[in-house]
Amino acid sequence: MSDPFLIGEAMTGGYGAADILHDCTLSVEKGEIAVIVGPNGAGKSTAMKAVFGMLPLRKGEVRLGGKAITSLSPQERVRAGMGFVPQTANVFTSMTVRENLEMGAFIRQDDFSDTMDLVFDLFPILKEKATQPAGELSGGQRQQVAVGRALMTKPSVLMLDEPTAGVSPIVMDELFDKILEVAATGIAILMVEQNAKQALNIADKGFVLVQGRNRFTNTGEALLADPEVRRSFLGG
Ligand SMILES: Nc1ncnc2c1ncn2[C@@H]1O[C@H](COP(=O)(O)OP(=O)(O)OP(=O)(O)O)[C@@H](O)[C@H]1O
Ligand SMILES: [Mg+2]
Repeated sequence: MSDPFLIGEAMTGGYGAADILHDCTLSVEKGEIAVIVGPNGAGKSTAMKAVFGMLPLRKGEVRLGGKAITSLSPQERVRAGMGFVPQTANVFTSMTVRENLEMGAFIRQDDFSDTMDLVFDLFPILKEKATQPAGELSGGQRQQVAVGRALMTKPSVLMLDEPTAGVSPIVMDELFDKILEVAATGIAILMVEQNAKQALNIADKGFVLVQGRNRFTNTGEALLADPEVRRSFLGG
């Protein structure tokens, strides 16, 4: 079997002496959406940080396009094609929307105006609000800025940690539609979601994490149909 496009394999590690992740494996293919769900404190954000190189691994490996990238820094991973939207502090609130997007293009030496146009096509409201400080935007609009910023490097993998946190159900649906659009362009999407049911609905694959371990891994559809998953993690 060939390697997944992105895989964090058997990741073990934490912030200090105690491990948070235990043999945790996550993966996603190009053009697919993989969703990570699980209770608060399960290690979802920690696992994302590990894949992005923000957490030293004691064991395990991260591979992108079949190449080990475990020793690369986050900035080197961005150059290798990874985009990451962290759970918190993911926009510069005092900078304008346009400046936020420009910051996203920090590694690019070429003309990135085409990419900014693509981001504005995807999120038209950002074009309207381009000269406004991002801090003045609504929660859902700010999440669009954060996703747009990550797209500015033209990543092959987009990692999103709770992109719909704190937004209304309608805005959540809109964001999920946009994420589906991004995946349809061939980008691999690895995202953490607290709206587990809705997220698994659009997911090709889902990972249920508990206490830093893989508890269930299957297609989104199969997880949604699994009585135990439903009872324990999806509120019945
Ligand atoms: N910077 C840190 N230093 C030390 N421990 C941390 C740090 N960040 C998280 N932890 C601990 O690691 C464990 C996993 O936290 P993590 O944030 O990865 O969980 P999560 O699944 O993302 O939770 P949530 O659903 O609340 O976002 C928790 O016990 C948490 O207290
Ligand atoms: Mg988290």
